[in-house]
Amino acid sequence: MSFAEYSELVSDGDVAIIYLSHDSMMPLKVQAGAQTQTRYGVLRHSQDLIGHKYGSKVSCSRGWVYVLHPTPELWTLTLPHRTQILYSTDISMISMMLELKPGAVVCESGTGSGSLSHAILRSIAPSGHLHTVEFHQQRAHIVEEEFREHRVGHMVTVRNQDVCLLGFGVTDVADAVFLDIPSPWDAVGHGYSALKRTGGRICSFSPCIEQVQRTCAALTDRGFTEICSLEVLLQVHDVRTLALGLPDFGLAPSLDQDQYQARDRDQAREQSQTSVSIRTTTAPREIPGHTGFLTFATKPRT
Ligand SMILES: C[S@@+](CC[C@H](N)C(=O)[O-])C[C@H]1O[C@@H](n2cnc3c(N)ncnc32)[C@H](O)[C@@H]1O
Repeated sequence: MSFAEYSELVSDGDVAIIYLSHDSMMPLKVQAGAQTQTRYGVLRHSQDLIGHKYGSKVSCSRGWVYVLHPTPELWTLTLPHRTQILYSTDISMISMMLELKPGAVVCESGTGSGSLSHAILRSIAPSGHLHTVEFHQQRAHIVEEEFREHRVGHMVTVRNQDVCLLGFGVTDVADAVFLDIPSPWDAVGHGYSALKRTGGRICSFSPCIEQVQRTCAALTDRGFTEICSLEVLLQVHDVRTLALGLPDFGLAPSLDQDQYQARDRDQAREQSQTSVSIRTTTAPREIPGHTGFLTFATKPRT
């Protein structure tokens, strides 16, 4: 198992995602001989998990659960929160606009809980590299350990330092730079130096528009082009069965006696069916809240 590659069977040492119900999942370190209590009873790792196929339904003492292969998307939904994190809606836009692809070199700060980092790693695998900078020592240490457990550690360098003071620790190597820190404008110059001389893309995530304004000013001063800020708001449509009333078009003035009688017979037949059922989708009643603004820019070839 690796977060960047698919395996068929659950093995000792894997991190699997246990799906309990549509609104409940948990990550689990699989260890031979270990047991985990779930709401459906005990899961015995050696008997119930190891050797079983990812995606399959496995037994617990009082029911069953699904064992899922870990992915960055599932990790984002189940990871232990040590900070605010980025979710798949913003991550998908970031991945596309930063043009992440296999072999790319990316610089990121702060690492936080590693939600975005895992998505970056899957996109740049197998030969890319992520340089991630986190100034909180314990967070840097825990996320490094998680990368190792998730078997993507060889693709990441975690630096425990202040990105605004010391930058990313690399120059002229990055294809893309990502900032999720309170004062991104202080790291824009370091982002510029980390990007390749042939150019690259930068993105900054900020919840407040005042932060966006200062970041855009710093990007302009540093010579970035194609500066653009946006917000991604997701609307998931629900599938529903709706009853639609049949319209009554009233009397048709041009009908003769026979046609009126035929029409009355039709109406009597339809009386028991004054509406039709249709399977359709409906927009959500509530629009999800604001997470933050994404500001993108390009470093031109120098
Ligand atoms: C909101 S979290 C990042 C979350 C991350 N994008 C994720 O998806 O899990 C911000 C992180 O930036 C770190 N940070 C803030 N300022 C920093 C700086 N100047 N240098 C390095 N890290 C910094 C914080 O310690 C925190 O862990």
